[in-house]
Amino acid sequence: MSINQNEEFRPKIVAFCCNWCSYAGADLAGSSRLAYPADVKIIRVPCSCRVNPMFILRAFEKGADGVILCGCHPGDCHYSTGNYYARRRMTLLFSMLDFIGVENGRTRVEWVSAAEGVKFSTTMNDFVAKIHKLGKNVRLGDLRCKN
Ligand code: FES
Repeated sequence: MSINQNEEFRPKIVAFCCNWCSYAGADLAGSSRLAYPADVKIIRVPCSCRVNPMFILRAFEKGADGVILCGCHPGDCHYSTGNYYARRRMTLLFSMLDFIGVENGRTRVEWVSAAEGVKFSTTMNDFVAKIHKLGKNVRLGDLRCKN
């Protein structure tokens, strides 16, 4: 990939955010006018444990360059232990992603509370910068749904 192509590259990021904390954190970031790239597409879920690992694989199949899961801090989940399940599930999924062709750096789990608009913005900027360095996700290209 040439430098010019890399400059034009705008990573597609899918961010699963739990309704009670992370989505409110994103909202706070927005209302506090904290910037994060518009390429981050937020999908609001009731709890981080609602995110089935297949959702993440599907996002990559559909062309996402990075997927981040945000939830309440451990101990703060509104469904008591949902984020513990999510953490275990994602640890297992992320450890297997290399085998199916997706680099580990393309995924991330982050705990963001409703009061952490700054953390939400910082996390998204950092994640997008990392995905930008990794480049386009082409390793699942042959599995991607074609138009
Ligand atoms: Fe936020 Fe469960 S409600 S992680």
